[in-house]
Amino acid sequence: MNILVTGGAGFIGSHTLIELYAAGHTAVVVDNLSNSNPVALKRVAEIIGIESIPFHKVDLRDHERLERIFEEHRFNACIHFAGLKAVGESVEKPWEYYENNINGTLVLVDVMRKHGCKNIIFSSSATVYGDPAEIPITENCPKGQCTNPYGWTKSMLEQVLMDIQRADPEWNVVLLRYFNPVGAHQSGRIGENPNGIPNNLMPYITQVAVGKRKELGVFGNDYPTPDGTGVRDYIHVVDLAAAHVCALQAIARRCGIGIYNVGTGHGYSVLDMVNAFIRVNGVDVPYSIKPRRAGDIATCYCDPAKAKAELDWEAQYGIDDIVRDSWNWQRQNPDGYPAV
Ligand code: NAD
Ligand code: UD1
Repeated sequence: MNILVTGGAGFIGSHTLIELYAAGHTAVVVDNLSNSNPVALKRVAEIIGIESIPFHKVDLRDHERLERIFEEHRFNACIHFAGLKAVGESVEKPWEYYENNINGTLVLVDVMRKHGCKNIIFSSSATVYGDPAEIPITENCPKGQCTNPYGWTKSMLEQVLMDIQRADPEWNVVLLRYFNPVGAHQSGRIGENPNGIPNNLMPYITQVAVGKRKELGVFGNDYPTPDGTGVRDYIHVVDLAAAHVCALQAIARRCGIGIYNVGTGHGYSVLDMVNAFIRVNGVDVPYSIKPRRAGDIATCYCDPAKAKAELDWEAQYGIDDIVRDSWNWQRQNPDGYPAV
């Protein structure tokens, strides 16, 4: 299939391009580079062994330019990663988050339907479950109250896409609810490249390990978890990328609406991650206990059985692979991608 990959220069999109080509698909990337670097696409092409990935530096909200891209290429499906994703920033700038994420998706879907491309895989998040009603979380678990505008954009866009499919059954909509994406490609050539101080655990750990930050703050050790620190379902980004290829097969089978948790089914605490990082990589990660972070929940991990049964997808990589590959990327690229 020929796939439109929005946000393809970003963390998850860049890894997904490699899995798409490995499975025999081709891709065209649309990204405004608001949170990414074109060097990622160069390196992806090197890894795949092609000259370049077709790329348009275009904002999804630019209806006219998006139209032109659809006139130039024929797409069988779209994998829609493009969006703003920083939770804290979304609290400070809710209008910008709603406008970018929701308007961007509405423009995309409008252009898609005009050009007869009615297959979409959407990057959703475990955040739509709020403080989950059950652990492990199955797809039957009711959606919850999000604690920030970023989360609400995911929850609302799930609804928008499902309503569009119900009104026009020619659409196939796959909602992938990612748990905690971490790790990097085994080559160490592409990985997560956060701007400024990382908000998320894994990039913070690697930046402490490489000497860019003094110590990790562990946000709370009084949660009702085995060691008191927060428990999450960390999924290797290469596994997550592969889930998108499996989701394309569901689209080929005309799945209608498909909703899947994409996680490992295992929960690890903050200290589990720190200790695995130290053990596997032989590098120290100084840390101290800090107060809880507002909006955090104690435990979040999924039951991935539905993805296994219906998509024939399951995670292949474990916590040791995750900490090894995250470190491999960070130490080869202490400052992330070079400035262009
Ligand atoms: P990322 O920021 O690395 O990638 C997103 C890409 O979208 C960036 O390259 C950015 O430049 C681009 N973009 C943003 N707005 C755009 C617009 N209006 N037009 C064109 N391009 C635009 O993020 P990621 O970690 O790769 O996440 C990909 C998707 O998965 C996002 O939708 C994110 O919300 C979702 N998600 C991520 C996580 C995570 O922890 N990384 C977890 C759950 C869901
Ligand atoms: C966060 C987002 C969530 C988003 C997800 C994507 C919040 C509140 N939630 O989830 O909406 O979908 O990223 O991956 O931001 N931790 C520390 N010290 C740090 C950073 C994190 O102790 O410096 C702890 C957190 O308290 C948590 C765990 O590490 O227990 C994981 O945190 P993080 O990587 O930020 O992910 P989530 O909070 O699960």
